[in-house]
Amino acid sequence: MIRLGVNIDHVATVRQARGETYPDPIAAAAIVEMAGADGIVVHLREDRRHIHDRDLEILRKTVKSKLNLEMAANDEIIEIALKTGPDMVTVVPERRQEVTTEGGLDVEAYYEKLALMTRRMHERGIFVSMFIDPEPKAIEFSKKLGSDAVELHTGRYCNATTPQEREEEYERIRLGVEEGLKWGLQVSAGHGLNYFNVKPIASLPGIEELNIGHSIIARAIFVGLEKAVRDMKALIGEAKSG
Ligand code: PXP
Repeated sequence: MIRLGVNIDHVATVRQARGETYPDPIAAAAIVEMAGADGIVVHLREDRRHIHDRDLEILRKTVKSKLNLEMAANDEIIEIALKTGPDMVTVVPERRQEVTTEGGLDVEAYYEKLALMTRRMHERGIFVSMFIDPEPKAIEFSKKLGSDAVELHTGRYCNATTPQEREEEYERIRLGVEEGLKWGLQVSAGHGLNYFNVKPIASLPGIEELNIGHSIIARAIFVGLEKAVRDMKALIGEAKSG
């Protein structure tokens, strides 16, 4: 069964909207794990707009499944990652003004920096993934710079406005999965996935993990976090079996 990593950044977004101590992402992580998620994902952004350093420190001590830190290849954050020791890091591009991670990482442009960072993570026993667009070149560069995995950006598939566009984007992801496997990489996918568009992605052979945040936290407001995670797990399970 495909693993589900749940991104809990937006629990912290609600907390930060009031500068309060609640809702607490640590409590959220515990509920998400009890609901059957396979991993907890957080993005420590340079501007600390949602997740804070303290959240990461405590999560490192409390998460029992797998802690996946999304991060920019930024010197300060690299040192924090090495100090904290998450189970894995997912390297993402980061622009201060963006609402969310808008595109995949340019692995070619930052090749040397990413290769060095990956070596340092490996020395610390941390698994490394690159968040990239489903493009053959990006997959090849990810492999060559030493990454263990690629996470394919599903944003364009999710945002497609016509059936034809959606079909084209889906095909790009399908080929991306094949390409990643060909290079011996672990392949995961994420961004923009929700209860209505997840099944076709979850049914692609070879995808090992999906990382989903906003749609799950949004649904949790109405049905509770545990049910929101269980519903997503069930959809992913159905896709695999049918
Ligand atoms: N994967 C990566 C690498 C991301 O940057 C994000 C967004 O933080 C997600 C998955 C989750 O995206 P969404 O919140 O749209 O489900």
